[in-house]
Amino acid sequence: MHVDELPTPALIIEADAFEHNLATMAAVHPGSRLRPHVKAHKTTAIARAQAAHGHRGFTCATPREVLGMAAAGLGHDLLLANEVLDLARLRAMGAAQADAQITVAVDSPETIAAAAAAGLANVLIDVDIGLPRCGCLPTEAGRLADLARSKGLTVRGVMGYEGHLMMVRDRVEQRARVDAAVALLLQAHADVGGEIVSSGGTGTHDLHDTTRPRGVNEVQAGSYALMDTQYSSVGFPFRQACFVVGTVIASKASLAVADVGLKALGMDHGNPSIDGATVRFCSDEHITFASDEGANPPVDARVRVIPAHIDPTMALHDTAWLVRGDEVIDRWPIDLRGW
Ligand SMILES: Cc1ncc(COP(=O)(O)O)c(C=O)c1O
Repeated sequence: MHVDELPTPALIIEADAFEHNLATMAAVHPGSRLRPHVKAHKTTAIARAQAAHGHRGFTCATPREVLGMAAAGLGHDLLLANEVLDLARLRAMGAAQADAQITVAVDSPETIAAAAAAGLANVLIDVDIGLPRCGCLPTEAGRLADLARSKGLTVRGVMGYEGHLMMVRDRVEQRARVDAAVALLLQAHADVGGEIVSSGGTGTHDLHDTTRPRGVNEVQAGSYALMDTQYSSVGFPFRQACFVVGTVIASKASLAVADVGLKALGMDHGNPSIDGATVRFCSDEHITFASDEGANPPVDARVRVIPAHIDPTMALHDTAWLVRGDEVIDRWPIDLRGW
């Protein structure tokens, strides 16, 4: 099939850019030193491609992602890097342990009690290293690990996500702040023990030396595989691999409109982009833009919209079309959506 034959809005992945991104990251953090975050794509076919590059452990954000990965045979080592209290979902993950190794993040007596009650075997202590979200104080981590062990849980180590530092533009400042955040994580790890020290994302992936003994030994990056305009603006060696193709449904001298609206795009990082055009705004089903030079594209032309934030964009689509040039070469269900 030709890309122009896809019903729009159509989420496409350029195979060559995608492969480049996986190979580039695998060269920096090979094998178990990268635990790719599946929340960035929610697609077992993409996780399978990451596994083919040597990464057998994965990070998940929801029980649905964990269960879907386990059911797809990708359950070698799944980390739910998020707190869950829902006993039904925790029990479902407990049952999935027959075929998968599952570890859940805990940061309180309540999340520890829930994991133990659901029959989960493994936990990781989630530590607050500066992002105002989940995670215990570094000084509480050892006590929580003792509590978890007293309930029969295996404590595999610590995680801490420095999400507030992903977009610090000054790389010298970013490195200093990441080092300070990691120092908190290592302080917690000294009290917790266990083999895992997990941290990082695409924006800080190259600031973690995963070869260092007694340092961060795995990076949880996810966006690098598909990328978005926010991360592209930083200048990492990853290419834009994901686009939402739209059809121009109106064209005037001053503007054109395509059928890719905010219901097809994660908008929390601002407007998406169109190469060679200026995006004016998005509404539910429309993107209004104007060419930077020359006439606006005619009605029925196709445009490629570049998402500003990849994770929520993927969550809005049920299919990703893999393309090479103008040819559609595969169809991947975005099968890990939901909670
Ligand atoms: C816990 C956790 N780890 C890692 C990441 C890294 O993601 P990215 O590669 O998109 O920066 C995220 C993203 O939000 C996250 O929530």
